[in-house]
Amino acid sequence: MIEMISKCDEKVAKQLQEIEDEIFTTAWPSETINQKINNKEFKYWTFKEDEKIVAYLGIQFINDFIEILGIGVIEEFRNRGIAKQLMNELMDYFNKSTYIKILLEVRESNSAAKNLYTNLGFIKVSKRKNYYKNEDADIYLKEKIYA
Ligand SMILES: CC(C)(COP(=O)(O)OP(=O)(O)OC[C@H]1O[C@@H](n2cnc3c(N)ncnc32)[C@H](O)[C@@H]1OP(=O)(O)O)[C@@H](O)C(=O)NCCC(=O)NCCS
Repeated sequence: MIEMISKCDEKVAKQLQEIEDEIFTTAWPSETINQKINNKEFKYWTFKEDEKIVAYLGIQFINDFIEILGIGVIEEFRNRGIAKQLMNELMDYFNKSTYIKILLEVRESNSAAKNLYTNLGFIKVSKRKNYYKNEDADIYLKEKIYA
């Protein structure tokens, strides 16, 4: 079940820190997550299975665009369409919003994530040399289509 997190408290922030840490082995401090969600700088979506968060998507608002902070699914829950469902929630939110584009960075070697993004119409627009300690980042963009 997907839940949008627009308001936070320490308990929820801790859960978000824990899932991010479990997937990426680094995470924002829970105090930062709590503060930035409540200040409307960050927004998260979580996917729960039996009350446990097994996947998340975090975004940041920067001026007139959205930056994806991270998307991750715990290993044993991968390849079930969960990331796609989370991204579709973001797409619905984006399409109804006044934000004009979504940007993200992804490791050059991360073909699973790159497939996820390109299937949703994201295009590779640039590269950041050594953005990660030992690897370049590809920058992907999705612009709003106005009817
Ligand atoms: C990338 C990640 C979020 C995908 O999550 P997932 O729930 O397994 O993905 P889904 O089942 O929703 O698959 C969605 C699409 O992603 C792509 N994809 C997912 N896993 C893939 C894999 N192992 N190889 C190639 N493409 C893959 C496919 O295009 C897939 O669509 P399709 O099934 O219609 O072909 C997950 O592998 C993950 O958490 N990885 C570690 C964290 C990470 O790298 N996050 C992204 C960088 S911020």
